[in-house]
Amino acid sequence: MQAATILVVDDESLIRYALTERLTAEGYRVLEAETVAGALAKSEDGVDLVLLDYRLPDGDGLAALKRIKERDPDTLVILLTAYSSVETAVEAIKQGAYHYVNKPFNLDEIALLVEKALETTRLRREVRSLRATQAQPYAFERIVGEAPALAAVKALLKKVATSPASTVLLTGESGTGKDLAAKVIHYNSSRASKPFMNITCSALPEALMESELFGHERGAFTGADRQKRGLFETADGGTVFLDEIGEMVPGLQAKLLRFLEEKTFKRVGGSVDIHVDVRVISATNRNLRDEVKEGRFREDLFYRLNVLPINLPPLRERRDDIPSLVTFYVDAYSTEFKKRVGAVSPDVMRHLQTYSWPGNIRELRNAVERAMLLADGDTLRVDDFAVHGGGAKLDDKVELPAEGINLDDLERSLVVQALERTGWNQTKAASLLGLNRDQIRYRVEKFGLERSAKP
Ligand SMILES: Nc1ncnc2c1ncn2[C@@H]1O[C@H](COP(=O)(O)OP(=O)(O)OP(=O)(O)O)[C@@H](O)[C@H]1O
Ligand SMILES: [Mg+2]
Repeated sequence: MQAATILVVDDESLIRYALTERLTAEGYRVLEAETVAGALAKSEDGVDLVLLDYRLPDGDGLAALKRIKERDPDTLVILLTAYSSVETAVEAIKQGAYHYVNKPFNLDEIALLVEKALETTRLRREVRSLRATQAQPYAFERIVGEAPALAAVKALLKKVATSPASTVLLTGESGTGKDLAAKVIHYNSSRASKPFMNITCSALPEALMESELFGHERGAFTGADRQKRGLFETADGGTVFLDEIGEMVPGLQAKLLRFLEEKTFKRVGGSVDIHVDVRVISATNRNLRDEVKEGRFREDLFYRLNVLPINLPPLRERRDDIPSLVTFYVDAYSTEFKKRVGAVSPDVMRHLQTYSWPGNIRELRNAVERAMLLADGDTLRVDDFAVHGGGAKLDDKVELPAEGINLDDLERSLVVQALERTGWNQTKAASLLGLNRDQIRYRVEKFGLERSAKP
């Protein structure tokens, strides 16, 4: 990624020097200006962030702020001032400043603020580009996330979309995006203008399911008072998505196999072979190999479906994508609920990133939806999200020793470890333990913990 460009505007050369040196060391590209006019000229070509002194030789910072924001509302401005007053601060924020810092400032504080601010723009731009693709709801960009595990999946989906004949098997836990992936494949393939038909294999009894898939002739069974075309026929030229394929009953498995091999089928009660051209995508959150081993799923069908397996990774294996997903859904629900929720604070984000998300992206989407409904005001708080519990699922890993254990000691030890790991930052430690700040403060007091304490 290209380094962000920061414009430092101050008439004191020493301040410019200190800021430029520090920010360059942090890897940013830094430009300098001494006046309002200079600032406007230098920001002409677009800068990501401006550190703006309030009192400049040819005017005040607020005027410059206004002009910069008019030109590009995405440019972030942090106002620096020695003349702190509440009114100026309020005015600066009103005019769209990201933050307000009093002189003399601390360089570490500035560096941190700059980093956070730039992360905000990055997410905002990402969301904007996503929104631009909303006209095309199943563009590849609709699959949010850049973590390596997901990037590999996206690359594979692209390849698969361009080879419109291959059979695809999507696997992954519930809520990881199998449905979404199937639609993305279809709508980005040469079959896009033809139907995408989907059916859940566990939903209907066998006879009904067969007629849904293959259709029936008039009089094929009681109640079949007219001929009906099935899913495969309706989808001719397009894609059929067979969801929960692991639940398909054995009788139908055999019929599906025959169809996949011969591309033809007979309607229920019919004698004519019907030929269609469809791509079959199937999905399951079961381990089909195990189902085969247990004798519940036909091995030959498994191999026929498994030509191109794509595994959607669980969210806990790509936690880096959580901020983009949260931002994506905050934005989506802001529109839907007509609420203006600002950026999610780093604390809340950190909390969400430590949770294990057993229900994956669906659970995250629901959690954001709920938080947005509960939010009064324009910020989301940790408590608005009904998620607790850390990244590791303890029930898989911790076994009660035969001789038993003292629960109080265990709790104390975990609290101390979390505090030490986070340099005694109670908020961070709390989030490692799935607690809120009051809950950890209570435990620190209960156990009489002090910074030097050892477990
Ligand atoms: N990478 C992603 N980016 C954005 N949204 C996603 C992503 N993956 C999944 N979603 C969204 O998460 C929700 C759940 O996804 P989906 O229904 O595709 O899961 P699934 O794997 O089919 O789950 P199940 O096995 O329970 O049927 C949907 O609203 C989907 O749009
Ligand atoms: Mg699904």
